[in-house]
Amino acid sequence: MKIGILTGGGDCPGLNAVIRGAVKAADRRGWEVFGINDGFDGLIGEPRCELLTLRRVGDILARGGTILGTSNRGNPFSFPVKRDGKVELMDVSEQVVANCRRLGLDALIAVGGDGTLKIGKRLIELGVPVVGVPKTIDNDLRGTDVTFGYTTAVEIVTEALDRLQTTAESHHRLIVVEVMGRNAGWIALESGLAGGANVILIPEIPFDLEKVNEFLRKRRQDGRAFSIMVVAEGAYPLSGTTVVQASAQENFGIVRLGGIGNVVARQISEATGIESRVVVLGHVQRGGSPCSFDRILSSRFGVHAIRLIERGEFGKMVALNGRSVVAIDIDQAVAQLNLVDPEGDLVAAAEELGISLGR
Ligand code: F6P
Repeated sequence: MKIGILTGGGDCPGLNAVIRGAVKAADRRGWEVFGINDGFDGLIGEPRCELLTLRRVGDILARGGTILGTSNRGNPFSFPVKRDGKVELMDVSEQVVANCRRLGLDALIAVGGDGTLKIGKRLIELGVPVVGVPKTIDNDLRGTDVTFGYTTAVEIVTEALDRLQTTAESHHRLIVVEVMGRNAGWIALESGLAGGANVILIPEIPFDLEKVNEFLRKRRQDGRAFSIMVVAEGAYPLSGTTVVQASAQENFGIVRLGGIGNVVARQISEATGIESRVVVLGHVQRGGSPCSFDRILSSRFGVHAIRLIERGEFGKMVALNGRSVVAIDIDQAVAQLNLVDPEGDLVAAAEELGISLGR
């Protein structure tokens, strides 16, 4: 058997561990694995790929990023092509199908988030046998208890919050920490809980800034002159919208969020007189080594993807269910985003701990 593997969308810690897991499990079966470069881009035009030997994947378990490269622009069903000096979005999926045949691939493992898995699903309809592996630091995919990369991102933010506590306290400041997560508040909420944040703003709970101001004034009156606020990049006020850095038109079809941290810090300082500073953690949250949980989960996902291929279970995605790795339909994972439940136990616990969620 010849298996293709690609990593699509934004990178995330654990991708290399998935690749290593799949190559090792395939090797035990006498199968070959070809790594496709830069997501689906590597199957458009002249195919770009490499044979992944045990030696090639030997030292990548703890390495961040992806040895294959990735792209969050290469959607073959809507691919930017230059024509007469203008960029047009065209369906070039037939090139992907033809290249899979040309390379003699018996199956393709697509490791990615919502976007990559949706493309994988459409390719199955065109006859490419795809299995999915869910990845994203945002943890916004349904059907799996958690995606790999997420726990590492939460660890990184938590460490940053621990460090920021001491400087905020020394200067009696409000420090606003803006974190990633797109339209899901998981990273903000769980790192905020772990890092002892005083205010956490998430997209699932549009915030009332006056309530946040009241909360911070009260903390001051009670003798706690510093505060830490974690704000998800997708958070927005009750009477407003998300802050974007680039529109979908400017950014290859994907809205780039960012900037809410600066907006709220300025407004709070103006309203309360509290001195504030803003830290935007950005891509630090995606870089570097996966934590041990993510190394194990990614390795198990890579191995399980090979098992699914062995059983002919295409159109499925590996997923964590409790302590077991299982298979679910890709459709189930991409139908809806996995968002924080504003009335759920996690949010309730945060509020009982005295954290303001701006409502
Ligand atoms: O989906 C992962 C993610 O890191 C989001 O949290 C963030 O909004 C986005 O990707 C950033 O994308 P880019 O790498 O294109 O700046």
